Amino acid sequence: MTSWNGLIESRYRRWLPLPPGTPAVSLNEGGTPLLRSHHLSELTSCEVWLKVEGANPTGSFKDRGMTVAISGAAAQGATTVICASTGNTSASAAAYAARAGLASAVLVPKGHVVPGKLGQAVRHGARVIEISGTFDDCLRVARELAAHHPVALVNSVGNELRLSGQRTVAYEIADALGDAPDVHCLPVGNGGNITATWGGYLAYRDAGLTTRLPRMWGFQAEGAAPLVHGAPVADPRTDAGAIRIGNPATWDGAIAARDDSGGLIAAVSDEQIFAAYRELARRDGVFAEPASAAGVAGLLDRHARGLLEPGLRVVVTLSGNGLKDQAAALHDGRAAVGASASTAEVARALELTT
Ligand code: F0G
Repeated sequence: MTSWNGLIESRYRRWLPLPPGTPAVSLNEGGTPLLRSHHLSELTSCEVWLKVEGANPTGSFKDRGMTVAISGAAAQGATTVICASTGNTSASAAAYAARAGLASAVLVPKGHVVPGKLGQAVRHGARVIEISGTFDDCLRVARELAAHHPVALVNSVGNELRLSGQRTVAYEIADALGDAPDVHCLPVGNGGNITATWGGYLAYRDAGLTTRLPRMWGFQAEGAAPLVHGAPVADPRTDAGAIRIGNPATWDGAIAARDDSGGLIAAVSDEQIFAAYRELARRDGVFAEPASAAGVAGLLDRHARGLLEPGLRVVVTLSGNGLKDQAAALHDGRAAVGASASTAEVARALELTT
């Protein structure tokens, strides 16, 4: 058995536009679990698979694009990388920059990034700037800085290396299932991931490795759903902070993925997102971060409205790891109960009466 050495070295280099011989900056990302959800399959009468992207090294799908972007930036002689982020991109950029020996700077919306993600960026040595504004403000500033200073932007906007890395999720799914699924559900924030995932399915189909294409079903949070309304949202609101974005940079790509696949981009409420987040942990044993559960929330919403045909093969991207957001985890779960180190007392606390 050969061990997994990350998506560039182990499997997909020929699908990535890295100059030949570019050394891979890798944390052995990719190769994430594709798990059958018995619970969701039964509930929807479909065959539902979960692509567990929180199993990547920094806990989100961002590592797929970041290994390629940082490999490219390092090979081109960059010394500092910069990004705007709702948290996961910054954690990933900081980790891969550390791995490559580069400096990193991350711009985040003040008060809207969970400590778990900020902590990752801090620990990996990033300079963290908290901006009084939204993610959209952070991205504008990061782009302007990269245009005028010697810093390499590693956001996915216009970054073909990032997007090509993120396409590998579709390759893995098609490799595992033997063909593309009927439907692919995922959360949508800045629009990069739906664009890249769709691009991956297209590339595999064009190469003759799959026979069909999925419908792309993207879901935004109700209070941050510019692609659903067709206009930017100045003051995006959702407790699913990772997708609190009002003006997606990859707007056209997301719309093209929707339309070319015969898919949809719809809104789900925070209540639906958090319900899906709880059920995934409770029923499937998968701890995904709240925003990650938007794809499941959307699938269940379609099912509840009678808009999901039975028998479909559905893949849902779970984009990030639940461990990053402990406040959400502890918010409404079963609280811990104190007891002395007495077997009888613990038995009572557990209601073990026989
Ligand atoms: N899910 C998670 C967990 C995310 O962190 C993001 C985006 C998305 C979904 C949406 O993906 O932006 O490509 O449409 N996070 C970015 C960040 C914005 O900075 O970490 P998208």
